[in-house]
Amino acid sequence: MTVVSGRTEGLQEPRAPYAGGLESLDREVELASLPVEGRIPSWLRGTLLRNGPARFEVGERGYNHWFDGLAMLHAFSLSGGEVGYRNRFVRSGSYREAEAKGRISRAEFGTDPCFGLFGRVMATFRPPVTDNANINVVRLAEGFAAMTETPLPIRFDPRTLETLGVVNYDDALKGTITTAHPHRDPETGDLYSYLTDFSLTSRYHLYRLAAGSRRRERIASMEVQRPAYMHSFAMTARDLVLAEFPLVVNPVRLLTSGEPFIRNYRWEPGRGTRFQVFDRVSGEHRGTWRGPALFAFHHINAFVDEEGAVVMDLAGYDDPRIIDFLYLESLRRGEPDFPRPTTWRIRLDPGGDGVERRVLSEQNIELPRVNESRVGRPYRYAWGTANRVRGHFTDALVKIDVTTGEASSWYREGCFPGEPVFVPRPQEKTAQGEAPAMDGGAAGSQQDAEDDGVLLSVVLDARASTSFLLVLDAATLSEEARATVPHALPLGFHGAFYGS
Ligand SMILES: [Fe+2]
Repeated sequence: MTVVSGRTEGLQEPRAPYAGGLESLDREVELASLPVEGRIPSWLRGTLLRNGPARFEVGERGYNHWFDGLAMLHAFSLSGGEVGYRNRFVRSGSYREAEAKGRISRAEFGTDPCFGLFGRVMATFRPPVTDNANINVVRLAEGFAAMTETPLPIRFDPRTLETLGVVNYDDALKGTITTAHPHRDPETGDLYSYLTDFSLTSRYHLYRLAAGSRRRERIASMEVQRPAYMHSFAMTARDLVLAEFPLVVNPVRLLTSGEPFIRNYRWEPGRGTRFQVFDRVSGEHRGTWRGPALFAFHHINAFVDEEGAVVMDLAGYDDPRIIDFLYLESLRRGEPDFPRPTTWRIRLDPGGDGVERRVLSEQNIELPRVNESRVGRPYRYAWGTANRVRGHFTDALVKIDVTTGEASSWYREGCFPGEPVFVPRPQEKTAQGEAPAMDGGAAGSQQDAEDDGVLLSVVLDARASTSFLLVLDAATLSEEARATVPHALPLGFHGAFYGS
């Protein structure tokens, strides 16, 4: 369909072709076996857990922004070539209060509750903090948690998707907001993340959470006047890097403006982007590197090169207008000039404070993923969603070879895929019964192994008003199988695969 902006009296509201993925899904179902086309690899056993917004109205009122919708978990279980599916809302405080009161009750990313005068005064001193954990799924502490950008991860049962309650950390670390994208070190299994604590003197806190622990160990803290909005951060095997994009907030304004959270942030491109680099072990602040103004939600990966420089790849934008395009009204309508990300490589000069930036690939990428064994290390492949047809949001899946910039893609007209999760093929047993080391063997085997596996993506088939789990060969992006849910699922954000 033609994407048209604006309204015409008496005619149907223009709708983007993917708008069926932005409607509320109220049903919670359990489907033992989905119809499968093709063949699911026999080694693929486990569960793909997905998270995303799934209810966009409460009572008479709708949420404003795609990031505001109430969280729903989806589980695709794979075993013996069969695929089962179930979904459940996260019973967060935001969800339970919305159900009980019949109205939006907590402040979200782009929506505030409607307060009367008294309520607004009270909320100024004690704003109701959302725990609507709709962004990601992470193995955390002793279990699984749904996460958003407030530090209130919500535990759930990965088999039933039943909500178990907020994770209680066993420490005194304080923060107002965080990222739903912690990094897991592939060697130790430790998680690394950061908090921003808004106060008269605001601070970033970087921390480590050992595998299986609920005690966050503070690695470093840094005072900041105007904290930046950072949806994710970068980690190498040596460093943690906060990329302070010049979308910044005065914390006092955040408390007193009465505006929804993200509307308090200001774009100040004159600041440039400040890369704050910290030693991952000692916490030493290695320095501040200043680069061109840009904005990003997602870092792709980062590593230390042979000269000791931090190299980081990201899905970047020239400015933060993308946030405005993701308001539901605009997103559902469809916008022909929807911003496309640029795949950038950024290198911090190891001998100074300069920054080199170059286009890594002409292929745009969003919701990027890598082989998790390469997190923080030199790597070769990134997978993600992409935009192919202008105004069609994410309508393709792509693979980029970051060493050459070459890319390949999967595209089907009328299909809108979500974040692709890479699942490595288990290593073959040797004749001695030992699994070969991931990085061992002859020269070249490491690179060969990096894309040896499958990609799992949940795809909206807009014409059929259904969604399907797509299994692609991660090396070639050829389709191996699809398993179809008999209705459309809302477009989601992030997820993870856990083997069984
Ligand atoms: Fe994200």
